[in-house]
Amino acid sequence: MGLYVLFLFLLLTHVHGAYVSRVGRSRRASGCDLYQGSWVRDGSYPLYETASCPFVETEFDCQKNGRPDKDYLKYRWQPSGCNLPRFDGRDFLLKIKGKRVMFVGDSLSLNQWQSLTCMLHTAMPQAKYTSVRIGDLSKFTFPMYNASIMFFRNAFLVDITSEKIGRVLKLDSIESSKLWKGMDAVIFNSWHWWLHTGRKQPWDFIQEGNNIYKDMDRLVAYGKALNTWARWIDSNVDPTKTLVFFQGVSPDHAGLSTSGAGPNCGGQTEPLPKYPSGQHPAELVLEKVLRTMSTPVHLLNVTGLSQLRIDGHPSVYGHGGHGYMDCSHWCLAGVPDTWNQLLHAAVIQN
Ligand SMILES: *[C@@H]1O[C@H](CO)[C@@H](O)[C@H](O)[C@H]1NC(C)=O
Ligand SMILES: *[C@@H]1O[C@H](CO)[C@@H](O)[C@H](O)[C@H]1NC(C)=O
Repeated sequence: MGLYVLFLFLLLTHVHGAYVSRVGRSRRASGCDLYQGSWVRDGSYPLYETASCPFVETEFDCQKNGRPDKDYLKYRWQPSGCNLPRFDGRDFLLKIKGKRVMFVGDSLSLNQWQSLTCMLHTAMPQAKYTSVRIGDLSKFTFPMYNASIMFFRNAFLVDITSEKIGRVLKLDSIESSKLWKGMDAVIFNSWHWWLHTGRKQPWDFIQEGNNIYKDMDRLVAYGKALNTWARWIDSNVDPTKTLVFFQGVSPDHAGLSTSGAGPNCGGQTEPLPKYPSGQHPAELVLEKVLRTMSTPVHLLNVTGLSQLRIDGHPSVYGHGGHGYMDCSHWCLAGVPDTWNQLLHAAVIQN
């Protein structure tokens, strides 16, 4: 009996160990880095018709909102050294049979979660699904597979609490972790909200230890919060039970240079051949924190490949033609489908 348990344990750790690659080691033994490559036109894309995905949020459904061009739907990510497997919804569902997968983060997580649920539903239209939202938690299930794919809206990962002085962003408190504890796979993301000021900033003070600040350099605050997250993961996650992913910083195209100058995503119909500046500053902070961790975390290193997709945002076709320029989210079908192909590849390869 004891031996049998030991054998099972070894088998499980071996299987899970094989799924995970450490940050900085996202290259496979063959030397192929799936995140290095280029966008190529492919007539067989998109992977699904958005009209066949009944639960997609209108704000991502650019065609329905009147976007006149369609070329942005026709690009496939081609890694330089190998091929990215075409998404196989049935295989993905079999992989997550009996499992709970959760996306945790802001509306860019919502974007990727919706893309994944659309990809799975359109691949398996006959499979019954349920979709419920309670507060910040959205839960999508395939009862036949006993599989759930959840989205927990949580922009900072660390907590915001209401206190006498006002709303306090607590850089070293992470109580909402109880929602993702025990999941089979979690895909985290946080960045965009760290930049908000004025009415869009959902806190009045920042607290670290016993110190309260009116404000702080946002990249520094982001790094501190990520550290709190990293220490929580290292002390609470059993890597033989939970696969941990981090969705890399999703770039916006509100202006090409860091100062916000240059063209935005409005009217863009083609990817950029190359991106003018180097790695995103938030990406550098994130990678630095990931390197300090003992838990294997797979970085979905999508920043660079998404930086090229200036054509992939809703622009004015995001909010039902209200004229608001959205260069942060992504049209669906679109760029997040590629992130999910990479997620699938990370689960089946290595
Ligand atoms: C369904 O999956 C959950 C975990 O996600 C598990 O606890 C439960 O036993 C499973 N039910 C069946 C009928 O397999
Ligand atoms: C992520 O991709 C960028 C290029 O876009 C590269 O410079 C960086 O080293 C990659 N990070 C990791 C951890 O592989």
